[in-house]
Amino acid sequence: MEEKVLLRLTDITKKFPGVLALDKINLEIRKGEVHGLVGENGAGKSTIIKVITGAHYPDMGEMYFDGRQIGRLSPHESMSIGIACVYQELNQVPYMTVAENIYLGREKFREKNLGILDREAMKRNSEQVLKTLGLDIDASVEAGLLGVGKQQMVEIARAVQADAKLIIMDEPTASLSAKEAIELLRIVKHLREQGVSVIYISHRLDEVKEVCDRITILRDGKTIETADVKDVSIDDMVSKMVGRGISQKYPKVKAPPGREMLRVEHLTRRGVFYDISFTLYAGEVLGFAGLVGAGRTETVRAVTGADPFDSGKIFVEGREVHIRNPRDSINAGIAFLTEDRKGQGLILIQDIEFNSTLVNLKHYISSLFLKLEQSKADAERMVRELRTRTPSVHTPTRNLSGGNQQKVVIAKWLLSKAKIFIIDEPTRGIDVGAKVEVYNLINRLTSEGAAVIMISSEMDECIGMSDRIIVMHEGRVTRELTGEAVTQENVMYAASGIDAN
Ligand SMILES: Nc1ncnc2c1ncn2[C@@H]1O[C@H](COP(=O)(O)OP(=O)(O)OP(=O)(O)O)[C@@H](O)[C@H]1O
Ligand SMILES: [Mg+2]
Repeated sequence: MEEKVLLRLTDITKKFPGVLALDKINLEIRKGEVHGLVGENGAGKSTIIKVITGAHYPDMGEMYFDGRQIGRLSPHESMSIGIACVYQELNQVPYMTVAENIYLGREKFREKNLGILDREAMKRNSEQVLKTLGLDIDASVEAGLLGVGKQQMVEIARAVQADAKLIIMDEPTASLSAKEAIELLRIVKHLREQGVSVIYISHRLDEVKEVCDRITILRDGKTIETADVKDVSIDDMVSKMVGRGISQKYPKVKAPPGREMLRVEHLTRRGVFYDISFTLYAGEVLGFAGLVGAGRTETVRAVTGADPFDSGKIFVEGREVHIRNPRDSINAGIAFLTEDRKGQGLILIQDIEFNSTLVNLKHYISSLFLKLEQSKADAERMVRELRTRTPSVHTPTRNLSGGNQQKVVIAKWLLSKAKIFIIDEPTRGIDVGAKVEVYNLINRLTSEGAAVIMISSEMDECIGMSDRIIVMHEGRVTRELTGEAVTQENVMYAASGIDAN
């Protein structure tokens, strides 16, 4: 193998019952390059990573790392030969310090026989690594006290400390704020300068364009193309991923404004959000913009009974409602699609049909015949419309790729008979093609007279799909924007608490 290739996969094939997840994958990662893996939900990106790190064993094909053939590695072996993976789900031990986490499983001992740890050295070295990465993180603080973004940086520091030659990142910025994402991209570039190779998986193609040297495009478990990133435009990437062009990114259809559906007056939860008032009308999408931590999620959680509030009133179709728990909110006709879909949205051992029709169970149970026919038909329709990649609606949701699991949660709420939809980060982790399908479904809801609140941290999406935008900053509404006033600039100013006027 040539000098400059660090990892080579040849004809790697992986089958799951009913799914050919990887179909003769060929992939070559060079030393010191950032290599992007892009593809639709279910294309096989995470499965490739699991094969490389030994979590799955391929049915066919060979792998070479640093000049040697590798077989099935345990996570420990994979780390010891220089492969590290930064998972999206954090696996820090929260009550241990940052330094202890960095050294977890590779502790330094003062007296090995007596099991006496060299805490001083571990702390000193950890501080050194954090410093080289330009990170402002205290090595002696408990990891659990750090935010998601910082914990992920500690994971990277851990990989660097272990002298990883290849660091794999699977959707690293999916739950980071815009500022943290910029920091992460900076670190990825720094790693490349140090000669480390990085595999970078993301649905945010602008990031891929910015940070990667080469990309490999996957579709249906096959490698479509590997190219220098400078030779492919984002539009090219999209059409090769999806197998068709996407003409319109935000296919917003305006619906005629209707009657008042939801009114919130002076809603306050001390220390979290204050004096929030707004009205939502039938046929409209009301966007909630703001920075991560502005209190948007907390506000809608209070409206839907997921969290308590101290004062304020909520009216549904003009009548005051007393919502104390999520059940009350469902009964009032409000559907809440949470941002933490994996944690709160799915019963993973159950299949797609079960999960999709869960909220609506009463409706299907009213007649046994209806249940059998209708529930399957509805679940299948949602699979088609959202382009969920699955062998059938009877596949357990735990077998689906991350993005396809999210589509099932979306389906579940779209199938509910609600008239008010509150959707928190509707397209996070979802591929470009499916995003458009989600927007089309939102259009359909509003055209049928439903009202939608959409929280989105992607400003383009918020602007592209909303009729009106409420901007929050530090727990307060700073502006409400309509019509001409809905611009990137106005949203940004209001979100950072600066008054543009
Ligand atoms: N343990 C499993 N059992 C059965 N099928 C699986 C399993 N893991 C993955 N699959 C299937 O393999 C295919 C590839 O999944 P994978 O998770 O690699 O997709 P992905 O490209 O990472 O997608 P996403 O962007 O949604 O994360 C999917 O069709 C998925 O349903
Ligand atoms: Mg994945």
